[in-house]
Amino acid sequence: MKRRRYPPTRKKRRSTRQPVAHTIPAMTYEADVADGLEAIAAHEIVTRLGAHAHLDPVTLRGMVRFTFTGVPSMLFNLDTILAVFQLHRFDVPRPRALLGDQNWRTLCAAAERIMRCHPRGLFQTFYLSAAGARTATMQRIAEGMAHHLGLRRVHTPDEGHFLMRIRRPPEGGAGWDVLFRLTPRPLSARAWRVCNYPGALNATVAHAMALMTSPHREDIIFNPCCGSGTLLIERARAAPAARLIGCDMASGALECARQNAATAGMADIVQLEPWDACRTPLPEKSVDVLLGDLPFGGLVGSHAENEQLYPALVQEMARVARPGARCALITHEVRLLSTVLDAQQAWRIEQIIKVSLGGLHPRIFLLRRTEW
Ligand SMILES: C[S@@+](CC[C@H](N)C(=O)[O-])C[C@H]1O[C@@H](n2cnc3c(N)ncnc32)[C@H](O)[C@@H]1O
Repeated sequence: MKRRRYPPTRKKRRSTRQPVAHTIPAMTYEADVADGLEAIAAHEIVTRLGAHAHLDPVTLRGMVRFTFTGVPSMLFNLDTILAVFQLHRFDVPRPRALLGDQNWRTLCAAAERIMRCHPRGLFQTFYLSAAGARTATMQRIAEGMAHHLGLRRVHTPDEGHFLMRIRRPPEGGAGWDVLFRLTPRPLSARAWRVCNYPGALNATVAHAMALMTSPHREDIIFNPCCGSGTLLIERARAAPAARLIGCDMASGALECARQNAATAGMADIVQLEPWDACRTPLPEKSVDVLLGDLPFGGLVGSHAENEQLYPALVQEMARVARPGARCALITHEVRLLSTVLDAQQAWRIEQIIKVSLGGLHPRIFLLRRTEW
Protein backbone atom coordinates (compact mmCIF):
# COMPACT_ATOMS: atom_id res chain seq x y z
CA MET A 1 0.00 0.00 0.00
CA LYS A 2 1.18 3.45 -0.85
CA ARG A 3 1.94 5.55 2.18
CA ARG A 4 0.13 8.89 2.37
CA ARG A 5 2.10 11.84 3.63
CA TYR A 6 0.64 13.92 6.38
CA PRO A 7 -0.25 16.68 5.88
CA PRO A 8 -1.00 15.80 2.26
CA THR A 9 1.00 17.90 -0.14
CA ARG A 10 -0.58 19.36 -3.20
CA LYS A 11 1.16 19.15 -6.50
CA LYS A 12 2.69 22.52 -7.21
CA ARG A 13 1.52 24.20 -10.36
CA ARG A 14 4.29 25.67 -12.38
CA SER A 15 3.93 29.44 -12.21
CA THR A 16 3.86 31.37 -15.43
CA ARG A 17 4.53 34.64 -13.59
CA GLN A 18 7.95 36.30 -13.61
CA PRO A 19 9.62 36.40 -10.16
CA VAL A 20 9.16 39.77 -8.44
CA ALA A 21 12.34 41.48 -7.33
CA HIS A 22 11.73 42.65 -3.72
CA THR A 23 14.39 45.30 -3.60
CA ILE A 24 13.73 48.17 -1.25
CA PRO A 25 14.95 51.50 -2.57
CA ALA A 26 17.52 53.32 -0.46
CA MET A 27 15.86 56.00 1.65
CA THR A 28 17.49 58.70 3.73
CA TYR A 29 16.86 58.70 7.48
CA GLU A 30 17.82 61.01 10.28
CA ALA A 31 18.29 59.86 13.85
CA ASP A 32 17.77 62.40 16.62
CA VAL A 33 20.37 61.66 19.29
CA ALA A 34 21.40 63.30 22.54
CA ASP A 35 23.90 65.99 21.64
CA GLY A 36 27.33 64.51 22.43
CA LEU A 37 26.38 60.88 21.77
CA GLU A 38 26.46 61.05 17.94
CA ALA A 39 29.47 58.71 17.62
CA ILE A 40 27.96 55.99 19.79
CA ALA A 41 24.63 56.24 17.91
CA ALA A 42 26.42 56.06 14.54
CA HIS A 43 28.26 52.97 15.77
CA GLU A 44 24.98 51.34 16.75
CA ILE A 45 23.47 52.10 13.34
CA VAL A 46 26.31 50.50 11.39
CA THR A 47 26.69 47.50 13.68
CA ARG A 48 22.95 46.73 13.97
CA LEU A 49 21.99 47.42 10.35
CA GLY A 50 25.16 46.15 8.68
CA ALA A 51 25.53 46.51 4.93
CA HIS A 52 21.98 47.90 4.59
CA ALA A 53 23.01 51.23 6.14
CA HIS A 54 25.51 53.85 5.08
CA LEU A 55 26.35 56.84 7.20
CA ASP A 56 26.02 60.21 5.53
CA PRO A 57 29.22 62.27 5.64
CA VAL A 58 27.22 65.28 6.90
CA THR A 59 27.74 65.50 10.66
CA LEU A 60 25.63 67.85 12.70
CA ARG A 61 25.19 68.06 16.43
CA GLY A 62 22.36 65.98 17.82
CA MET A 63 21.71 63.93 14.70
CA VAL A 64 23.06 61.09 12.58
CA ARG A 65 21.97 60.87 8.95
CA PHE A 66 22.16 57.64 6.99
CA THR A 67 20.77 55.84 3.97
CA PHE A 68 19.11 52.49 4.50
CA THR A 69 17.76 49.88 2.11
CA GLY A 70 15.83 47.66 4.55
CA VAL A 71 12.26 47.84 5.81
CA PRO A 72 11.70 50.82 8.14
CA SER A 73 10.56 48.53 10.96
CA MET A 74 14.21 47.46 11.33
CA LEU A 75 14.79 50.97 12.70
CA PHE A 76 12.21 50.76 15.49
CA ASN A 77 14.54 49.15 18.03
CA LEU A 78 17.66 51.28 17.95
CA ASP A 79 18.63 51.75 21.58
CA THR A 80 20.85 54.85 21.63
CA ILE A 81 18.60 56.92 19.38
CA LEU A 82 15.86 59.26 20.55
CA ALA A 83 13.72 59.10 17.39
CA VAL A 84 14.16 58.19 13.71
CA PHE A 85 12.76 60.25 10.84
CA GLN A 86 12.55 59.57 7.12
CA LEU A 87 13.95 62.51 5.21
CA HIS A 88 12.60 63.84 1.89
CA ARG A 89 14.46 66.74 0.32
CA PHE A 90 12.71 68.94 -2.25
CA ASP A 91 14.52 71.33 -4.51
CA VAL A 92 11.87 74.02 -4.17
CA PRO A 93 12.20 77.70 -3.29
CA ARG A 94 9.45 77.82 -0.67
CA PRO A 95 7.22 75.40 1.30
CA ARG A 96 4.20 76.30 -0.80
CA ALA A 97 5.66 74.24 -3.63
CA LEU A 98 5.24 71.13 -1.44
CA LEU A 99 1.53 71.44 -2.13
CA GLY A 100 2.19 71.08 -5.88
CA ASP A 101 0.59 67.95 -7.31
CA GLN A 102 3.68 65.77 -7.75
CA ASN A 103 5.40 66.77 -4.50
CA TRP A 104 2.20 66.34 -2.53
CA ARG A 105 1.63 62.86 -3.96
CA THR A 106 5.20 61.90 -3.06
CA LEU A 107 4.69 63.11 0.51
CA CYS A 108 1.32 61.44 0.96
CA ALA A 109 2.61 58.12 -0.37
CA ALA A 110 5.67 58.24 1.92
CA ALA A 111 3.53 59.07 4.97
CA GLU A 112 1.10 56.25 4.16
CA ARG A 113 3.96 53.76 3.82
CA ILE A 114 5.16 54.65 7.32
CA MET A 115 1.66 54.25 8.77
CA ARG A 116 1.39 50.83 7.11
CA CYS A 117 4.48 49.62 9.01
CA HIS A 118 2.36 49.66 12.19
CA PRO A 119 -0.88 48.01 13.29
CA ARG A 120 -3.97 49.91 12.17
CA GLY A 121 -5.17 52.49 14.68
CA LEU A 122 -1.80 53.02 16.40
CA PHE A 123 -1.51 56.55 15.03
CA GLN A 124 -4.43 58.76 16.11
CA THR A 125 -3.01 62.28 16.08
CA PHE A 126 -0.89 64.44 13.79
CA TYR A 127 1.58 67.20 14.66
CA LEU A 128 3.49 69.52 12.33
CA SER A 129 6.74 71.03 13.58
CA ALA A 130 7.96 73.91 11.44
CA ALA A 131 9.25 77.43 11.80
CA GLY A 132 6.29 79.57 10.79
CA ALA A 133 3.84 76.76 11.53
CA ARG A 134 1.08 79.38 11.81
CA THR A 135 1.46 80.70 8.28
CA ALA A 136 -1.35 79.96 5.83
CA THR A 137 0.87 77.59 3.79
CA MET A 138 1.94 75.54 6.78
CA GLN A 139 -1.64 75.39 8.01
CA ARG A 140 -2.73 74.03 4.62
CA ILE A 141 0.06 71.45 4.68
CA ALA A 142 -0.77 70.36 8.23
CA GLU A 143 -4.52 70.22 7.68
CA GLY A 144 -4.07 68.49 4.33
CA MET A 145 -1.73 65.80 5.63
CA ALA A 146 -3.77 65.17 8.80
CA HIS A 147 -6.87 64.83 6.65
CA HIS A 148 -5.14 62.57 4.13
CA LEU A 149 -3.96 60.23 6.90
CA GLY A 150 -7.27 60.38 8.76
CA LEU A 151 -5.63 61.74 11.92
CA ARG A 152 -6.66 64.41 14.41
CA ARG A 153 -4.40 67.44 14.33
CA VAL A 154 -2.86 68.44 17.67
CA HIS A 155 -0.78 71.47 18.60
CA THR A 156 1.67 70.09 21.14
CA PRO A 157 4.45 67.72 20.01
CA ASP A 158 4.08 65.35 22.99
CA GLU A 159 0.48 64.63 21.96
CA GLY A 160 1.38 63.93 18.34
CA HIS A 161 1.69 60.35 17.15
CA PHE A 162 2.49 61.10 13.52
CA LEU A 163 5.17 63.80 13.51
CA MET A 164 6.01 65.80 10.38
CA ARG A 165 8.84 68.33 10.33
CA ILE A 166 9.46 70.96 7.68
CA ARG A 167 12.73 72.91 7.69
CA ARG A 168 15.54 74.31 5.62
CA PRO A 169 18.46 71.84 5.11
CA PRO A 170 20.42 72.28 8.36
CA GLU A 171 23.76 72.04 6.54
CA GLY A 172 22.78 75.02 4.36
CA GLY A 173 21.96 75.12 0.68
CA ALA A 174 18.74 75.45 -1.24
CA GLY A 175 15.50 73.53 -0.91
CA TRP A 176 13.25 72.33 1.87
CA ASP A 177 13.29 69.16 3.94
CA VAL A 178 10.25 67.20 5.04
CA LEU A 179 10.77 64.58 7.73
CA PHE A 180 8.35 61.97 9.04
CA ARG A 181 8.94 60.26 12.37
CA LEU A 182 8.75 56.50 11.95
CA THR A 183 7.12 55.63 15.26
CA PRO A 184 4.14 56.99 17.23
CA ARG A 185 6.33 57.59 20.26
CA PRO A 186 10.04 58.43 20.50
CA LEU A 187 12.29 55.37 20.69
CA SER A 188 13.55 56.67 24.03
CA ALA A 189 10.07 56.10 25.52
CA ARG A 190 10.64 52.50 26.57
CA ALA A 191 7.76 50.08 27.02
CA TRP A 192 9.30 48.89 30.30
CA ARG A 193 8.94 52.33 31.95
CA VAL A 194 5.62 51.87 33.70
CA CYS A 195 6.73 53.89 36.73
CA ASN A 196 7.94 57.41 36.04
CA TYR A 197 10.31 58.69 38.69
CA PRO A 198 11.25 62.39 39.02
CA GLY A 199 14.77 62.85 37.66
CA ALA A 200 14.81 59.51 35.84
CA LEU A 201 17.59 59.25 33.29
CA ASN A 202 16.76 59.22 29.59
CA ALA A 203 16.87 55.55 28.57
CA THR A 204 18.92 56.17 25.41
CA VAL A 205 21.59 57.98 27.44
CA ALA A 206 21.56 55.13 29.97
CA HIS A 207 21.99 52.62 27.15
CA ALA A 208 24.91 54.61 25.72
CA MET A 209 26.54 54.70 29.18
CA ALA A 210 26.19 50.92 29.47
CA LEU A 211 27.87 50.48 26.08
CA MET A 212 30.68 52.84 27.08
CA THR A 213 31.72 50.40 29.80
CA SER A 214 32.36 47.64 27.18
CA PRO A 215 29.74 45.17 28.50
CA HIS A 216 30.77 41.61 29.15
CA ARG A 217 28.56 38.67 30.13
CA GLU A 218 30.64 37.95 33.22
CA ASP A 219 30.41 41.49 34.59
CA ILE A 220 29.21 42.11 38.12
CA ILE A 221 27.53 45.50 37.97
CA PHE A 222 26.77 47.91 40.77
CA ASN A 223 24.49 50.92 40.29
CA PRO A 224 24.58 53.15 43.39
CA CYS A 225 21.68 55.66 43.56
CA CYS A 226 19.70 53.54 41.10
CA GLY A 227 16.41 55.48 41.32
CA SER A 228 13.82 53.82 39.08
CA GLY A 229 16.33 51.36 37.62
CA THR A 230 17.01 52.92 34.21
CA LEU A 231 20.74 52.11 34.13
CA LEU A 232 20.27 48.56 35.41
CA ILE A 233 17.54 47.76 32.89
CA GLU A 234 19.36 49.33 29.96
CA ARG A 235 22.59 47.54 30.93
CA ALA A 236 20.69 44.24 30.97
CA ARG A 237 19.19 45.07 27.57
CA ALA A 238 22.65 45.85 26.16
CA ALA A 239 24.23 42.51 27.12
CA PRO A 240 23.93 39.67 29.63
CA ALA A 241 25.68 40.15 32.98
CA ALA A 242 26.62 37.92 35.88
CA ARG A 243 24.93 40.17 38.46
CA LEU A 244 23.11 43.50 38.40
CA ILE A 245 22.90 45.18 41.80
CA GLY A 246 21.25 48.53 42.44
CA CYS A 247 20.69 50.47 45.64
CA ASP A 248 18.76 53.55 46.66
CA MET A 249 17.78 54.99 50.02
CA ALA A 250 14.37 56.15 48.78
CA SER A 251 11.82 53.35 49.13
CA GLY A 252 9.61 54.98 46.45
CA ALA A 253 12.50 54.82 43.99
CA LEU A 254 13.10 51.14 44.71
CA GLU A 255 9.40 50.34 44.30
CA CYS A 256 9.48 52.15 40.95
CA ALA A 257 12.59 50.20 39.93
CA ARG A 258 10.86 46.95 40.91
CA GLN A 259 7.85 47.73 38.73
CA ASN A 260 10.00 48.75 35.77
CA ALA A 261 12.26 45.70 36.09
CA ALA A 262 9.24 43.40 36.28
CA THR A 263 7.75 44.95 33.12
CA ALA A 264 11.10 44.55 31.38
CA GLY A 265 11.00 40.85 32.35
CA MET A 266 14.02 41.35 34.61
CA ALA A 267 12.52 40.92 38.08
CA ASP A 268 14.76 37.91 38.71
CA ILE A 269 17.88 39.42 37.17
CA VAL A 270 18.05 42.76 38.93
CA GLN A 271 18.86 42.88 42.66
CA LEU A 272 17.53 46.01 44.37
CA GLU A 273 18.69 46.97 47.86
CA PRO A 274 17.76 49.78 50.28
CA TRP A 275 21.41 50.56 51.05
CA ASP A 276 23.16 53.86 51.58
CA ALA A 277 25.41 53.97 48.51
CA CYS A 278 28.26 55.31 50.67
CA ARG A 279 28.17 52.33 53.08
CA THR A 280 27.24 49.14 51.28
CA PRO A 281 27.71 45.56 52.49
CA LEU A 282 29.35 44.64 49.17
CA PRO A 283 32.72 42.93 49.65
CA GLU A 284 35.94 44.75 48.75
CA LYS A 285 37.06 44.43 45.11
CA SER A 286 33.93 42.53 44.11
CA VAL A 287 32.50 44.68 41.27
CA ASP A 288 33.61 44.89 37.62
CA VAL A 289 31.47 47.82 36.45
CA LEU A 290 29.87 50.77 38.20
CA LEU A 291 27.13 52.81 36.61
CA GLY A 292 25.71 55.90 38.28
CA ASP A 293 23.29 58.73 37.66
CA LEU A 294 24.21 60.89 40.63
CA PRO A 295 21.84 63.39 42.22
CA PHE A 296 22.26 66.57 40.15
CA GLY A 297 21.28 68.82 43.05
CA GLY A 298 18.30 70.26 41.18
CA LEU A 299 15.28 67.96 41.13
CA VAL A 300 17.01 65.39 43.35
CA GLY A 301 19.16 66.39 46.34
CA SER A 302 20.92 69.72 46.87
CA HIS A 303 24.41 71.02 46.22
CA ALA A 304 25.15 71.06 49.97
CA GLU A 305 24.10 67.40 50.27
CA ASN A 306 26.16 66.50 47.21
CA GLU A 307 29.27 68.04 48.78
CA GLN A 308 28.96 65.35 51.46
CA LEU A 309 27.69 62.59 49.17
CA TYR A 310 30.12 62.71 46.24
CA PRO A 311 33.44 62.17 48.09
CA ALA A 312 31.94 59.41 50.25
CA LEU A 313 30.42 57.72 47.22
CA VAL A 314 33.61 57.86 45.15
CA GLN A 315 35.48 56.31 48.09
CA GLU A 316 32.94 53.51 48.53
CA MET A 317 32.96 52.82 44.79
CA ALA A 318 36.74 52.52 44.97
CA ARG A 319 36.46 50.03 47.84
CA VAL A 320 34.04 47.70 46.05
CA ALA A 321 35.64 47.97 42.59
CA ARG A 322 38.11 45.40 41.30
CA PRO A 323 41.42 46.82 40.05
CA GLY A 324 40.79 47.81 36.41
CA ALA A 325 37.00 48.13 36.93
CA ARG A 326 35.15 50.40 34.51
CA CYS A 327 32.83 53.14 35.67
CA ALA A 328 30.45 55.58 33.96
CA LEU A 329 28.91 58.37 36.04
CA ILE A 330 26.60 61.10 34.81
CA THR A 331 26.13 64.35 36.71
CA HIS A 332 25.39 68.01 36.34
CA GLU A 333 27.68 68.73 39.31
CA VAL A 334 30.68 68.77 36.98
CA ARG A 335 32.94 70.96 39.07
CA LEU A 336 32.18 69.07 42.28
CA LEU A 337 32.84 65.64 40.78
CA SER A 338 36.01 66.90 39.04
CA THR A 339 37.30 68.30 42.34
CA VAL A 340 36.53 65.06 44.18
CA LEU A 341 38.24 62.96 41.50
CA ASP A 342 41.29 65.25 41.42
CA ALA A 343 41.76 64.69 45.15
CA GLN A 344 42.07 60.89 44.95
CA GLN A 345 44.09 58.26 43.12
CA ALA A 346 41.79 55.24 43.04
CA TRP A 347 39.96 56.38 39.90
CA ARG A 348 41.58 57.59 36.68
CA ILE A 349 39.49 59.75 34.36
CA GLU A 350 39.58 58.25 30.85
CA GLN A 351 37.08 60.56 29.14
CA ILE A 352 34.53 63.25 29.92
CA ILE A 353 31.63 63.58 27.48
CA LYS A 354 29.33 66.59 27.48
CA VAL A 355 25.74 65.63 26.76
CA SER A 356 22.95 68.09 25.99
CA LEU A 357 19.40 66.97 26.36
CA GLY A 358 16.17 68.73 27.29
CA GLY A 359 17.97 71.96 28.24
CA LEU A 360 20.41 70.22 30.61
CA HIS A 361 24.13 69.78 29.93
CA PRO A 362 25.44 67.03 32.20
CA ARG A 363 28.76 65.24 31.68
CA ILE A 364 29.45 61.53 31.53
CA PHE A 365 32.68 60.68 33.37
CA LEU A 366 34.31 57.46 32.18
CA LEU A 367 36.62 56.20 34.89
CA ARG A 368 38.96 53.26 35.40
CA ARG A 369 39.88 51.82 38.80
CA THR A 370 43.63 52.01 39.22
CA GLU A 371 45.60 48.99 40.37
CA TRP A 372 46.39 50.39 43.82
C1 LIG B 1 19.28 61.24 39.79
S1 LIG B 1 18.43 60.09 40.77
C2 LIG B 1 18.66 58.60 39.91
C3 LIG B 1 17.62 58.41 38.87
C4 LIG B 1 17.74 57.11 38.13
N1 LIG B 1 18.89 57.05 37.29
C5 LIG B 1 16.51 56.83 37.31
O1 LIG B 1 16.58 56.77 36.08
O2 LIG B 1 15.42 56.76 37.89
C6 LIG B 1 19.49 59.92 42.14
C7 LIG B 1 19.03 58.93 43.19
O3 LIG B 1 20.02 58.88 44.20
C8 LIG B 1 19.38 58.49 45.40
N2 LIG B 1 20.31 58.75 46.51
C9 LIG B 1 20.76 59.93 46.99
N3 LIG B 1 21.65 59.73 47.99
C10 LIG B 1 21.77 58.39 48.15
C11 LIG B 1 22.55 57.56 48.98
N4 LIG B 1 23.39 58.07 49.91
N5 LIG B 1 22.42 56.23 48.85
C12 LIG B 1 21.58 55.68 47.97
N6 LIG B 1 20.82 56.42 47.12
C13 LIG B 1 20.91 57.75 47.21
C14 LIG B 1 18.10 59.29 45.39
O4 LIG B 1 17.14 58.70 46.23
C15 LIG B 1 17.73 59.23 43.89
O5 LIG B 1 16.81 58.20 43.66
